[in-house]
Amino acid sequence: MSRRRHTDISAPDANASGASPNLIRGRFKRSRLPEVEAFTASLPFDRRLYAHDLRGSIAHARMLAKVGLLKPAEAREIVAGLTKIRAEIESGEFRFALADEDIHLAIERRLTEMIGDPGRKLHAARSRNDQVALDFRLYLRDEIDSLRTRLGGLRAALLAVASDHVETVMPGYTHLQRAQPVTLAHHLLAYVEMFARDDERFTQARARTDVMPLGAGALAGSTLPIDRAMVARELAFARIAENSIDAVSDRDFAVDFLAAAALLAVHLSRMAEEIILWTSAEFGFAELPDEFSTGSSMMPQKKNPDLLELIRGKAGRVIGDLVALLVTLKGLPLAYNSDLQEDKERVFDALDTLKPALDLLAKFWPRLAFKAPVMRAAAGGFALATDLAEYLVARGAPFREAHETIGAMVRETAAAGQSLEDLTLNDLRRYSPKFGPDAIAALDPAGSIAARALIGGPAPKTVRARIAKLAAHVRPPRPRKRPQ
Ligand code: ARG
Repeated sequence: MSRRRHTDISAPDANASGASPNLIRGRFKRSRLPEVEAFTASLPFDRRLYAHDLRGSIAHARMLAKVGLLKPAEAREIVAGLTKIRAEIESGEFRFALADEDIHLAIERRLTEMIGDPGRKLHAARSRNDQVALDFRLYLRDEIDSLRTRLGGLRAALLAVASDHVETVMPGYTHLQRAQPVTLAHHLLAYVEMFARDDERFTQARARTDVMPLGAGALAGSTLPIDRAMVARELAFARIAENSIDAVSDRDFAVDFLAAAALLAVHLSRMAEEIILWTSAEFGFAELPDEFSTGSSMMPQKKNPDLLELIRGKAGRVIGDLVALLVTLKGLPLAYNSDLQEDKERVFDALDTLKPALDLLAKFWPRLAFKAPVMRAAAGGFALATDLAEYLVARGAPFREAHETIGAMVRETAAAGQSLEDLTLNDLRRYSPKFGPDAIAALDPAGSIAARALIGGPAPKTVRARIAKLAAHVRPPRPRKRPQ
């Protein structure tokens, strides 16, 4: 930003004219170096808070009028001015200049330019320290709501896919080795459970964000007879910050949000990784939709899951956002310090990362075409060993003995180049006389799944009931067309 540009806004030198270059340099003889101005300004990024800054100022002005610090006409002029500023910002007319430092001074400067004296009265009993805390909380409250809506979209999309696959058999894994048969629905619901917890964490972070700091002033309140409760009511805050020092130095709410965001990013990353595995030739469980895939500049056959890799990779960023804010806060003396200005970009970055990831995944899931026969084939064979052991336990064998018996069966069957499903009743009986004709049914993955109807199990009827419960908490899935 050149010296020329910011002189557009006001005189460069505090004493050069009647107007100060910005509103708060009365005690200075010389203006700041442009490079200091550029380094310290938050305006390039905190412009994002403009709507919330305006809302906060309108509430503050109305309160000042109510307690007699502004005349009703002055408050009306201020509100009209701020409303006009909103229109200027939204139409692109508003001139942003680094000399204004941040969105708070930029708006106040413009207001004063527009309406003169009443504008100069607005900042009574207020500091940018409580103002920025207010704006940031108002902003984050709205953004958490919007993020939760998007997360709801992804949860709804997953539930819709799950409802179509309550009986689609696939192997469940431990150690990335085939373990026991489950269904695709059951597997997907594991993510929906994670997202339900994420949603709960965002709700909790929102509750700790929903605290009104204005009135704390710079750090120690004000002697003026302000009415904090009125501002809190105007802005629909649940609570009022009870300690003026804490009110301006607390960023725990942003940490709470970023912690929830980082964990959501980790969940999305795990999910992305599984889709990457499933759509590889090695698994072959599903086919990447063209609309979501990228090609290779060299290898003509390639269909790459870049989108999913980036969703996996961006978890690193969001974790970084959380860690960066924690490190910023660590060791910071009370109350406000400019270090705190570093809080906003971390939150913006986490939001900018998660919002499109959630929206894209919600669009992606209905378009992912699964290959049920491949999944079913992978779920048979030795994945049923536990069922056979449990068959023997149900007929009185100690579990360890059954484990060993079936272990031997697996070893010998594998050595013979067969799988458990190839065995006849006579083969089974060579290992234990407890095997009866119904043992063959235990070797059916679908039967094995249906038999695990315990709470939290993969049986279709259990999973259907769980889908209904989970769906009650998210918005109803939109009607969708699934490519076959
Ligand atoms: N731009 C500042 C921030 O983002 C606003 C508060 C500035 N207060 C101050 N005393 N410099 O935190």
